[in-house]
Amino acid sequence: MSEWRIRCPDLEVEWLAAEGESLLESAERAGIELLSSCRNGTCRTCMCRLVAGEVRYRIEWPGLSREEKAEGWVLPCVAEPTGPRELSLDSPWAGLK
Ligand code: FES
Repeated sequence: MSEWRIRCPDLEVEWLAAEGESLLESAERAGIELLSSCRNGTCRTCMCRLVAGEVRYRIEWPGLSREEKAEGWVLPCVAEPTGPRELSLDSPWAGLK
């Protein structure tokens, strides 16, 4: 089974994600609480910026504009890691934790 290491320096945490897990699910399995609400890619509460790595989406139309995607914004509740084995996320909510 494939695994990805996810780093979030803003929150000073890192965890492993298994193939088929969303970034949010894998964080929760590791005991890391990321902000979330709808968990279906609609509300944008979980929005983070992907600094390094690649994701694919479980749904066809995640709630991000083309410009936001180009800027690296991702929705961890419906984003699964793919590509390079390490991802790095910035959380705009780090200061709220
Ligand atoms: S929790 Fe609503 S978009 Fe991720």
